[in-house]
Amino acid sequence: MADGHGNGIPGEKRLRSRAWFDNPANPDMTALYLERYLNYGLTREELQSGKPIIGIAQTGSDLSPCNRHHLVLAERLREGIREAGGIAIEFPVHPIQETGKRPTASLDRNLAYLGLVEVLYGYPLDGVVLTIGCDKTTPACLMAAATVNIPAIALSVGPMLNGWYKGQRTGSGTIVWKAREMMAAGEIDYAGFVDLVASSAPSTGYCNTMGTATTMNSLAEALGMQLPGSAAIPAPYRERQQIAYLTGKRIVEMVAEDLKPSDILTKDAFINAIRVNSAIGGSTNAPIHLAALARHIGVPLDIREWQEYGHDIPLLVNLQPAGEYLGEDYHHAGGVPAVVAQLMKQGLIRENALTVNGKTMGDNCRGATIEDENVIRPFERPLKEKAGFLVLSGNLFDNAIMKTSVISQEFRDRYLSNPNDPEAFEGKAIVFDGPEDYHHRIDDESLGIDEYTLLFMRGTGAIGYPGGAEVVNMRPPAYLIKRGILSLPCIGDGRQSGTSGSPSILNASPEAAAGGGLALLKSGDRVRIDLRKGTADILISDEELEARRAALGADGGYHFPGSQTPWQEIQRGIVDQLGNGMVLKPAVKYQRVAETY
Ligand code: FES
Ligand code: MG
Repeated sequence: MADGHGNGIPGEKRLRSRAWFDNPANPDMTALYLERYLNYGLTREELQSGKPIIGIAQTGSDLSPCNRHHLVLAERLREGIREAGGIAIEFPVHPIQETGKRPTASLDRNLAYLGLVEVLYGYPLDGVVLTIGCDKTTPACLMAAATVNIPAIALSVGPMLNGWYKGQRTGSGTIVWKAREMMAAGEIDYAGFVDLVASSAPSTGYCNTMGTATTMNSLAEALGMQLPGSAAIPAPYRERQQIAYLTGKRIVEMVAEDLKPSDILTKDAFINAIRVNSAIGGSTNAPIHLAALARHIGVPLDIREWQEYGHDIPLLVNLQPAGEYLGEDYHHAGGVPAVVAQLMKQGLIRENALTVNGKTMGDNCRGATIEDENVIRPFERPLKEKAGFLVLSGNLFDNAIMKTSVISQEFRDRYLSNPNDPEAFEGKAIVFDGPEDYHHRIDDESLGIDEYTLLFMRGTGAIGYPGGAEVVNMRPPAYLIKRGILSLPCIGDGRQSGTSGSPSILNASPEAAAGGGLALLKSGDRVRIDLRKGTADILISDEELEARRAALGADGGYHFPGSQTPWQEIQRGIVDQLGNGMVLKPAVKYQRVAETY
């Protein structure tokens, strides 16, 4: 380090942290940059020795209980980083608690993204550990690492232990839907409702169901962004702390190898993730987050590719809400590598995709075995065929997705059983403008909702309800539930919780608030959905559609409630549609920004 350049190793790339801590061209600033990082005990020798500075992007806090265990895991991360020759610097990421943030946690995905981009870009960091877990923390962290493109590795917090209630597994999130039905049907009272819900969240960690958290953590591994086998280890298990240590060691090596997100997040990686998403029964939020990640790393990924690559993949993982089991069972059965190995045998995995451990997806997962075939099924004996998403379009929207594998037999018999018109159904639309409108009116018998009605929810996309509300899956009116009608087709421009098993048509883009066809729909209209053709249309003439559009007024728009905070207003002005990843449009052009330092 005689010249203050280099890392002391001839031929090695200069670490970007040297621009702060060891810049002979600017000794004044070097002193200033060094000074405050010395005042809690780091020495000048450490900071100028050429050791890589590794950020720990800490998403855990008292406000974000799902990720709070990362405060503990960070200790083992630090030990791994230190042992491999790095210096750990931990810093907070804007908290995003799925079950705590009003009006919706997804409003903050892009805010946490922006904040993390600024930290990774503007501070002396050579690499970063992304502490992922709760639903939106995973995409927020990955998106920021993609934009900045410094070496980055993800560490899951791990799922909670299995929930139990009276001898039955209770899954976090999923149990809420069941408990609501039970309370609506008068089977439990309010205290019973709370007890049942709380039983599903028995420990630290992310949701133990195949909701958005298990989905996104599994996909972070399928994308190659975390160590193989690490996504599914339950938070309280000793292996979780052990993998934290190994993750800390590995990021230091990644900096030396200059292994960056752009080397890992290739088109092949996204195709692998889409296929794994189908096989695990992944959340309908995954297309939104993967679209965002692809746009920030600069990989073209069209929403229709979810159908092209993913629709025909069978469901292998038997986790709630589609199946029976929970996170601990998934881990014991072999987790993500066992699923990938099943798909590999069918030639469905791009095996050469590189991962954070420097090896390929194929090398990491070849030979991984299923340890419990009740929980992870072999490809030849799936739980369901065609577990991926259909992508629909028509005069209602340009694109929306549907998870057809969750359509129940009862639902199929009711709607999709006409032999002359297979996979299609028509019905009368009842339209709700946002969740409050729905809650006010759903049980009003004068709406005339019957078992052939289609429920529509609009005003709930990224603009209409800032961040997009998880409200499209609507329970039928109580009087229908009492008659045994447990679900109606639901269609909307919002999202659906990954822990819900409803066969809804979701993420409709453009949303009503952006002038999409849903803004033109009126209660009482006939609507036709054809799953075979992939269409969704209001059955009225083009002239009538145009007349309705004209009647919406000079601003062309559907009206929605105002913003309550500055960020809601800022994001509404610049956010893209759910089908395009709900990214901040001006952010996408900034790629590989660390190259400017
Ligand atoms: Fe945080 Fe499900 S609410 S992981
Ligand atoms: Mg959710």
